[in-house]
Amino acid sequence: MSADERVVLTHGIIAVPFVPGIVVPADAVLGAGYVPGIARLGVPALRESDASLGVAYVMGIRKDGSTPLPSGLAQAASWNPDILFKGGAMIGSEARAKGFNVLLAGGANLTRDPRNGRTFEYLSEDPLLTGVLVGSAIRGIQSNDIISTIKHFALNGQETGRKFVNSVISESAARESDLLAFQIGIEQGQPGSVMCSYNVVNGAHGCDSDWLLNKVLKRDWRYKGFVMSDWGAVPSLDAALNGLDQQSGEQLDPKVFFAKDLQAKAASDPAYAAKLVDMNTRILSQIFKYHLDTNPAKPSGAIDFAANGAVALAAAEQGIVLLRNQNGALPLAASAKRIAVIGGFANSGVMSGAGSSQVQLPGGPAVSIPLGGDGPFAAFMQIQYHASAPLKAIKALAPEAQVIYRDGSTIADAVAQAKTSDVAIVFATKWSTEGQDSADFSLPNGQDALIAAVAEANPNTIVVLETGNPVDMPWLGKTAAVIEAWFPGGRGGEAIANVLFGKVNPSGHLPITFPASAAQLPRSVIDGYFDLEPNFAGDPPTPDTKLDANYNIEGSDVGYRWFARNLHKALFPFGFGLSYTTFASSGLKVSGMSASFTVQNTGSRQGATVGQVYLVSRAGAPKQRLAGFARVDLQPGASQTVKVTFDPRILADWKDGGWSLPAGAYTFALGDDAEHLGTPVTVRMAARSWKD
Ligand code: BGC
Repeated sequence: MSADERVVLTHGIIAVPFVPGIVVPADAVLGAGYVPGIARLGVPALRESDASLGVAYVMGIRKDGSTPLPSGLAQAASWNPDILFKGGAMIGSEARAKGFNVLLAGGANLTRDPRNGRTFEYLSEDPLLTGVLVGSAIRGIQSNDIISTIKHFALNGQETGRKFVNSVISESAARESDLLAFQIGIEQGQPGSVMCSYNVVNGAHGCDSDWLLNKVLKRDWRYKGFVMSDWGAVPSLDAALNGLDQQSGEQLDPKVFFAKDLQAKAASDPAYAAKLVDMNTRILSQIFKYHLDTNPAKPSGAIDFAANGAVALAAAEQGIVLLRNQNGALPLAASAKRIAVIGGFANSGVMSGAGSSQVQLPGGPAVSIPLGGDGPFAAFMQIQYHASAPLKAIKALAPEAQVIYRDGSTIADAVAQAKTSDVAIVFATKWSTEGQDSADFSLPNGQDALIAAVAEANPNTIVVLETGNPVDMPWLGKTAAVIEAWFPGGRGGEAIANVLFGKVNPSGHLPITFPASAAQLPRSVIDGYFDLEPNFAGDPPTPDTKLDANYNIEGSDVGYRWFARNLHKALFPFGFGLSYTTFASSGLKVSGMSASFTVQNTGSRQGATVGQVYLVSRAGAPKQRLAGFARVDLQPGASQTVKVTFDPRILADWKDGGWSLPAGAYTFALGDDAEHLGTPVTVRMAARSWKD
């Protein structure tokens, strides 16, 4: 490679003309990023699309449409690596057909704060569940001979002040939680690239952190792929020596550091010269490994939207969580004569989360509500609903019933309809977006009052939640049933109706704790939330603005682990999910690093559940960790013996630069969820320590 060729792959542009002056090269594909190729050497250009939940619509500039999967939380609620693989493979195939060969996917940040605006893009609060599922999704994407990222490395726990918030955390806590999720995800998914994060970690930016990039990722984990920056996350040229290999979306940074500046520095400084060789080696090795050169993605490929929609539908069906079902209120009886459907734009579609991950179906959104604002990122601020109307799907499954719709804007009208109906189904939505967190867990726009009034008027009230995050349910006790449908994706309306009418037996289990109140959380308010203006760009209001998020409060006890440590009772615990049948898990046996148990379907319908094995105490001290899980699908009366293998890192401490398991008694239990645990089983384990 010539000196000029060596700084071709090291930086790239935004390939969307969203501000004047951005010129998109002729061979780029409209999408988040573009890195030119090197024709003389047969190196293809990198054409990058956001793809957390589908091939992104890039502010509506692309008009071709793609298949939206349900949110990350919804997919994770399946606890089913296969469904994540299929979703990834589907997105990858659509991306290929549009000419993309690098997908900005693989969101693996732990949902450390359930009010984080990007919670819907991520998978869970647990490192094992997140790592296994994200690894599977990445394998699915890369099965198309394209590269996927895993992102945002690391500890990107909130959107408030996202480019300067400093995540403060001890090394041991980080290694046992957020970093472990990435470590498992990278091992299982082998992503070609890791996208480093906007935020600061213990004083260094994610994309400029020698500790995260050089030491943890490349040395300890022996990661051979390349690190690309998040868009506008590169503070200086020094980031190269601190482990960054590629500057992405360079127009958003203070300067294009990784072109002429890098070349000049490499000509005079041997450390930079060596680093530049390593950067190219890493990027090229992944281009070749995933055959970007020999099996190139080409625009105008065929997309089978019907088949891909079926993948989105299956993911939504497996991710819907039945939270409450009094006296078998669900599934709905075919005999209901009058059904009132209220609120949530259920006559038009299902809610979608927003930001760079936003996907649009072919034909565009069913509803789009621009929220205004100015600046280049205002285009992202739109509440959109995918055109998959629950109302239509409900009518299709209740052909004999009179199904009436009210938008819920007038409580008296909704109440009147509920009173004269056999059943009232209230759709409640809470939008969330990249760039902005939630203040609290309430439903916006008076929906809590609407639900309370409707449930008061008709005790046979079913609530369908379409939310990106956990929410409060002050009306819970008055309702007959509640389902959490999350942001259910491009076929979400049908998935919801299929669950309501029992065409599908719900099997989702919460991948995140629903707190009973914010006071139960390590931080009752997101740091900086009430002091800073929401700002998608995430820049500090003044150069010296400082903001810390102290993750040492909970350390590695994220989510249910924190709840267990503090004996908090959740509104709905991690792992919770009901079914139209019943299950019994029993016979837990632990031997070394594996466990077996039996799951039986004790009810009268086919259904799936998730066997969950928790560590509950170690060497005499309480310590809760999800140690293994398995989704099991059973006919009525059938049972299955399941074996799970423990990853010893889940049970261990990070100490003195490695993992260590203390000698002593280890107590495990099967759990219906993280709070409802079965008979404890204790085994002795010998002391052990090892390096990654
Ligand atoms: C997001 C990334 C995304 C990138 C490119 C950033 O704002 O944090 O997740 O991949 O933009 O669109």
